[in-house]
Amino acid sequence: MASATKLLKEEHRSIRAALDFAERMTSRIERGEEISLEGLARLMEFIHLFVEQCHHAKEEKIFFPALESKGVGTSDGPLGVMLADHERGRDLIRTMNEAAEEYQPGLAKSGEHWARAAWDYSGLMQEHFGKEEEILFRMADSVLSPEEQGVIVTDFQRLDEENLGPGKHEELRARMIELASQRT
Ligand SMILES: [Fe+2]
Repeated sequence: MASATKLLKEEHRSIRAALDFAERMTSRIERGEEISLEGLARLMEFIHLFVEQCHHAKEEKIFFPALESKGVGTSDGPLGVMLADHERGRDLIRTMNEAAEEYQPGLAKSGEHWARAAWDYSGLMQEHFGKEEEILFRMADSVLSPEEQGVIVTDFQRLDEENLGPGKHEELRARMIELASQRT
């Protein structure tokens, strides 16, 4: 039977590819080199659609409530920490979006604002995924039965279809893998 924690970990893998791509972009900006406007736009679109509409929506609307119903507390327990990370991530995405508008390829310093926020965002998310995989998902695997995990996976699939439309999840994932293999 499909496992919700396994599916979330697979999504982390795709998101880590995007974060690596973002970090390579920040390195180029720090060296005073230009980055691709198209690459920047595609990365920000992936963060908006895949990280927020797809991954974090699954956790906040389905996965965390399922854990809460099993007694893994929200406000003062590990779920509260995870939600606070998501909020901090959204603040940084807002900053990155604003900074991406300012970026002009010919103007070396214009990318520094974006690079700082992207570096912080990548660090935050890498650490957040570590906490989820090492602590929260292990707790989930111990409190959720295989049947309950299967029901969550079905709910995940329905949410993806509602939020993104049919087939979009796989398309976004494949496009990110392709983008990650290209130069920044
Ligand atoms: Fe999360």
